[in-house]
Amino acid sequence: MNNSMATHTQVNVMERTLSREMLGVVESGALAAGRLMGRGDKNAADQAAVTAMRSALGQIPVRGTIVIGEGERDEAPMLYIGEEVGIQELDMPEIEIAVDPLEGTNLVAYGLPGAVATLALSTKGGLFHAPDTYMDKLVVGPAAKGRVDIHAPVGDNLSAIALSLSRSVEDLTVVILERPRHQELIQEVRQTGARIQLITDGDLMPAICTAIQGTGIHAVMGVGGAPEAVLTAAAIRCLGGEIQTRIRWRHDEEKARASDMGIDLDEDKVYYTEDLAPGEEIVFAASGITTGDLLQGVRYFGTGSRTHSVVMARQSGLLRFVDTVHMNKNRPGPIQL
Ligand code: FBP
Repeated sequence: MNNSMATHTQVNVMERTLSREMLGVVESGALAAGRLMGRGDKNAADQAAVTAMRSALGQIPVRGTIVIGEGERDEAPMLYIGEEVGIQELDMPEIEIAVDPLEGTNLVAYGLPGAVATLALSTKGGLFHAPDTYMDKLVVGPAAKGRVDIHAPVGDNLSAIALSLSRSVEDLTVVILERPRHQELIQEVRQTGARIQLITDGDLMPAICTAIQGTGIHAVMGVGGAPEAVLTAAAIRCLGGEIQTRIRWRHDEEKARASDMGIDLDEDKVYYTEDLAPGEEIVFAASGITTGDLLQGVRYFGTGSRTHSVVMARQSGLLRFVDTVHMNKNRPGPIQL
C-alpha cells in the first residue's frame, strides 16, 4: 500500500468512527433540549443542550478544540471557544469542532418547527474560526453552484438558479429570516415572482435543504449568524452546493474585539464554501429537536424516546438519516412507532 492510500484509509476510519460518535453527541443535545419545548425559556433550553453535549463530547476518543461555540471564555463557562474536549490522550486524533448545541433557541422556547442540536468537525485548520457576528449569505444547491454571485442583483441570481433547475423563477422558494434588515431584500425577491418562506429563526437547516432535492427550498438569502455560516459550509462541503458570504459586523465594538483577537476581516471580501470549511475530512451532524423540513423532532413516550438525525462525512461520501429509539431502562415496555 502506498502512503497516500494509507492516509486515505485512515482518514475514512476517522470520519466513519467520529460520525458515529458525533451522532450520539447531537442526539444527547436534542433529547435534553426537547424536554424544555414550549417553556418560553430559551436560555434554559440552550443550557440543557450545552450541558448534555459537553458531557457526551467528554467521552469521545479525540483531542478536540472548540473553534465555534457558546462564546468567548469570559462569557461562556461551557463549550467556549478554545475549550479542549474529548478524552485528550496523545494518540487520539486532533480535531476542531464548531458546535451549536441549540440552533433555534426561540423555536424550542415556543415549540416552533426547525430547531436542531448540531456540530461539525474537521482536522486542524479545517473550519474557519468565524467570530460571533453576522454574515450576509447566499446559499444554493449543487445545480446552481458556480452560477450565482453575491454581488449580483437578486433577480440575476434567481434567474441563474431557475435556469440551473430547469424551472421558472416563479417555481423557486427562497428562505429569508423575517427581520427589518431584510425589507429591501424581500421586496427585490417579490418583484421577481419567486416564492418566499419567511422564517422567525434558524437559517442553518433551510440552507442545508437547498442541497437536498425534494425539500422545496432552492435558496437562502440574507444576513444571519456567522457561526451558522461555517456549519452550513461544512454540510455543503459534504452535500455539494455553494455558500457565499460577506462579514457584516453588528457594531464597532464587535469588530474591535475580533481585531484584538487577531481576527481582521474585510467586509468587502467574499468568503466561499471552501474558505469557511476548507478541511478535506469533515463530519457534520444534526439531530431534530422540533420537527422541521428535514428532521423530525424528539418524541418522548414514557418507555423511551426517539430521535431523528442526519450525519454526513465528506471524504467517505456518507449521508445517513438515523432514526434512534433510546429505551428507558428504568421503565421497560413497548417502543412506539
Ligand atoms: P439562536 O442562536 O437563538 O438559536 O438563533 C439562531 C439564528 O436564528 C440563526 O439561525 C440565524 O443565523 C441568526 O440566529 C439570526 O440572528 P438574529 O436573530 O440576531 O437576526
